[in-house]
Amino acid sequence: MQLGKNVSGNPKEQPAESATVRILGIETSCDETAAAVVENGARICSSIVASQMATHGKYGGVVPELASREHLRAIVPIVRQAVKEAGLDYSQVDAIAVTQGPGLVGALLVGLTYAKTLALALNKPLLAVNHLEGHIHAVLLEERLQGRPEPEFPVLSLVVSGGHTLLAVSEQVPGSAPGATLFSHRILGRTRDDAAGEAYDKVAKLLGFGYPGGPILDKLARHGNPNAVAFTRPKMKGNSLDFSFSGIKTAVLRYVEANNLEAEISARREWRKQNPTAGINELLSVTSVKTLDLVASFQKAVVDDLAEHCYEAAEKEAVNSIFITGGVAANSLLRERLLNRRGSLPPVYFPRLSLSTDNAAMIAAAAYPKFLAGQFASWDIPPDASLALGQS
Ligand code: KG4
Ligand code: ZN
Repeated sequence: MQLGKNVSGNPKEQPAESATVRILGIETSCDETAAAVVENGARICSSIVASQMATHGKYGGVVPELASREHLRAIVPIVRQAVKEAGLDYSQVDAIAVTQGPGLVGALLVGLTYAKTLALALNKPLLAVNHLEGHIHAVLLEERLQGRPEPEFPVLSLVVSGGHTLLAVSEQVPGSAPGATLFSHRILGRTRDDAAGEAYDKVAKLLGFGYPGGPILDKLARHGNPNAVAFTRPKMKGNSLDFSFSGIKTAVLRYVEANNLEAEISARREWRKQNPTAGINELLSVTSVKTLDLVASFQKAVVDDLAEHCYEAAEKEAVNSIFITGGVAANSLLRERLLNRRGSLPPVYFPRLSLSTDNAAMIAAAAYPKFLAGQFASWDIPPDASLALGQS
């Protein structure tokens, strides 16, 4: 196999035609410290995720300074564990891949600095990955893990997480090696205010359920009436494929005030402090039917909006597949809605839950085509909190 040129001047071994390429991925863009070893962008040898939920839970959202500190604590043991669980030693890893951005700058800096240090010390090449591209690659990784054929391009990508909500047409760059897709992305729309996951987290905080809101509200929503509260879908002036989720959060607040739910919420908030790890049945015992109806209606409104965006974009663009990925792709109603697709919608793909939320296997998988193309990073690359999704 012919490797592309080394743009960084950093060292690399030239793999033979059928060589197995093992990439160690490191992800620290938000509140998960993650490391994974992935073989040829298709087989997960190990994938370790250390969540900081316990640290941020009491604040109802991620506190950037605490996130950096927690990454510093976790990075060395987590990377060590990933290499060990892959049954390897460091010398058997072919390259180190790391998330360069977007994300929290201090959090990114921890992963990037450690990845550079490791790569220099081990004399291995460094690969820089866009976190959003990692999420998109999670879908390809899922299909490869399942042994299914590669989805057809162009792809409509919906990346929907705590920090991002965007729709893009993702094309395969001509000349990509088989099974190692290099992408170019054209953005169709993005959120103008909150991300969808952020809306879940803010509404959960507002209702006294704690952090992270997505998984909790998703479970509670099954116990309420999704048609009880009518939310109006925001009309986006200019670009109808943009998103907005700040209005729904305000509408939830108004409903709380109009229906005198404050006392129930503050009681639950206090109870939650004593019961931070409470399960769904315990949460149900401190939640009124009215609140459950509100949660179910909120979830329906968010999912309707995401689904409608996909339908509209798929009608406008000649795409052959739809990828839904990012933390909110774990949502049960979103999966149900899009997998029971209507009419002529192209096939819809989701990664498994553990690959939907932040993880490092998706970073290692996204780095594989870059490794084959020789797109190595230079030693002086900075973390980029607002790194755009462009061409890989
Ligand atoms: O991709 P991710 O792990 O981190 C970011 O890149 O932001 O996404 C985390 C977000 C959080 O806002 C969380 O509440 C949301 O994904 N989330 C969900 C669900 N599981 C996680 N939102 C809705 N339903 C879920 N089941
Ligand atoms: Zn993410």
